[in-house]
Amino acid sequence: MSWIRDHIRTIPDYPIPGIQFRDVTTLFQNGRALQRLILEMADHCSDMKITRIAGIEARGFILGGALAHHLGVGFVPVRKAGKLPWKTISREYNLEYGTDTLEIHTDAVEPGDRVLIVDDLIATGGTAVAALELLRDVKAEVIGSLFVIDLPDLGGADKLRAHGCPVHCLVSYE
Ligand code: PRP
Ligand code: ADE
Repeated sequence: MSWIRDHIRTIPDYPIPGIQFRDVTTLFQNGRALQRLILEMADHCSDMKITRIAGIEARGFILGGALAHHLGVGFVPVRKAGKLPWKTISREYNLEYGTDTLEIHTDAVEPGDRVLIVDDLIATGGTAVAALELLRDVKAEVIGSLFVIDLPDLGGADKLRAHGCPVHCLVSYE
């Protein structure tokens, strides 16, 4: 979907030398583009009977929140460590440029919930696999995952599929 690429800005050497940072803020700040993106994402999951969206902090909150609103389903925040107020479980993971920890509320899903993981980008897959494991720890049925951007050279989408989670990405940067 080349129209999406037209709205994504690439910033060389951010946050560290050698990283080509794919910046979606330029897409988010364009109302028509953001609306069209959410419609594309909703189209992808129209037959999946999703009951909750799990959005990964931070950009997955923007996309996941808008998509949950559009679909009329609940939103589950998968947050960076120390931000959630109730009982949580945690997973540490490696990133393209460092390590981090994600958390989820222990009561984030209910029996029978069909959950879709949403984020702006998948690179090494460390973040998404940690989110998947957290969701499975709280007994969610994870139906799949949806990303705007795939960085296939980093292997994250394949890694997530190897964990048994279907993956769909709207654009790819080789
Ligand atoms: C980015 C992106 C994904 C993650 C993907 O978030 O939004 O969540 O990296 O990387 P991975 O596939 O290698 O795990 P970042 O960690 O920069 O956090 P932020 O959204 O809070 O800025
Ligand atoms: N997260 C991990 N790698 C990234 C990249 N190259 N651009 C934007 N977000 C990222």
